[in-house]
Amino acid sequence: MTLKKVLRGPLLHFLKDPGDNAPLSGSAEYIEDAAIAIDQQGCIAYCGDAEAFVATLPRETTIDHYPDKLLMPGFIDAHVHFAQLGIIASYGRQLLDWLNNYTFPEECRFEEQCYAEQVAELFVQQLLRHGTTSAMVFSTRHEQATEALFGAALRHNMRLLTGKMLMDRNAPAKLLDTAEGGIEASRALLEKWHGRQRLEYVLSPRFAPTSTPAQLEAAGIFMDEYPGIRMQTHLSENLAEVDWVKTLYPDASDYLDVYARAGLLRDGCYFGHAIHIDDSVRERIRAAGSGITVCPTSNLFLGSGLFNWQAARDQQVPIALGTDIGAGTSLSQLQTLQDTYKVCQLNGAALSPWQAFYQITLGSAITLRLDDRIGNLTVGKEADIVVLDSAATPAAATKAALREQRLEEQLFNLMLLGDDRSIAATYLMGECQYRRDA
Ligand code: GUN
Ligand code: ZN
Repeated sequence: MTLKKVLRGPLLHFLKDPGDNAPLSGSAEYIEDAAIAIDQQGCIAYCGDAEAFVATLPRETTIDHYPDKLLMPGFIDAHVHFAQLGIIASYGRQLLDWLNNYTFPEECRFEEQCYAEQVAELFVQQLLRHGTTSAMVFSTRHEQATEALFGAALRHNMRLLTGKMLMDRNAPAKLLDTAEGGIEASRALLEKWHGRQRLEYVLSPRFAPTSTPAQLEAAGIFMDEYPGIRMQTHLSENLAEVDWVKTLYPDASDYLDVYARAGLLRDGCYFGHAIHIDDSVRERIRAAGSGITVCPTSNLFLGSGLFNWQAARDQQVPIALGTDIGAGTSLSQLQTLQDTYKVCQLNGAALSPWQAFYQITLGSAITLRLDDRIGNLTVGKEADIVVLDSAATPAAATKAALREQRLEEQLFNLMLLGDDRSIAATYLMGECQYRRDA
């Protein structure tokens, strides 16, 4: 077999959930000197010890060698708004004011094709710079903006899931569609983009307050029509939002019930934030085959609350981490892990580095049901790889100079002291798409 190339260096990936403390045996694989061979299609043909394998390769084989770095599967961002890149770190207030004052006005700008194209390309480049190789993304309500994002992902051959936002009330007129129009536009986009290269259409009602009952109902019918299609939305992020939903949907037994009644609580439905929920809500999400996208940098920034990570783990609710830009404050999944760790501490639990790195790779892939394609570096998977530098930031470099670090400590340094500077290179399907020192 002719190979596209080989990556060589220390490697860590997960084969299953490592548990909450030291990794359970067989869950993580660390190889001090590994080779990852990538075939012409961009998939992994070999992953294992380097020395004997490299000796068998034809002399002309390209080998990208990273002896002092750490190779891992590319990170997955399960909840992020591409159109909010321009309002990251916008000062003041909580969710509903932030939406009205910053988010909606910015999203109105995506009516302009030129602006949407520009931000879409920047967004994909920024994901790569932060080591993120797959993302489930909210667009705006605009079809053209959604096409701009699909187009940017297609150019880079990135695995990206998105869909136009459905919203037909409680926002500026420019951002509104209609129950019927929104669904027809979703259908046209799905038929054009879904399944192209590594793209997927995700039905995306923004959240209950910006959809009429008729729109949510239409969304549920759409899900029946396209079995296997995913849905993303927001749930119980902020207390004022939860109260507002009670007044908008007085017949629903709770916030989740609004979606359930519309047929939007089922396999492949993902609920962003889900902070102010109880055991019953967690159990209904789990039983439905749905999942929660967890966004700690956003929850701290907007003062939304502390996600109960331990309860979600204990109740076996599928979870996946998201940056939630622009309410989130960084596109880095390392920074996201830092805040996840701190939120867990405030809730009386500790997030081990093993569990943390599992979550942003295989864990999210399993939650998003993409683990047959991505999430680790076993043979046959897509060669989406991040090259990590655990001593890139000044504090991490100083610490590394002062004392030798075990792998577990290196991982913990990455998540507490790392950011985009820790990403030395990012590969999509075996192609190097970002190199820090280029
Ligand atoms: N709820 C509804 N829309 C949004 C959004 O754009 N960001 C966040 N954080 N929450 C939302
Ligand atoms: Zn969001």
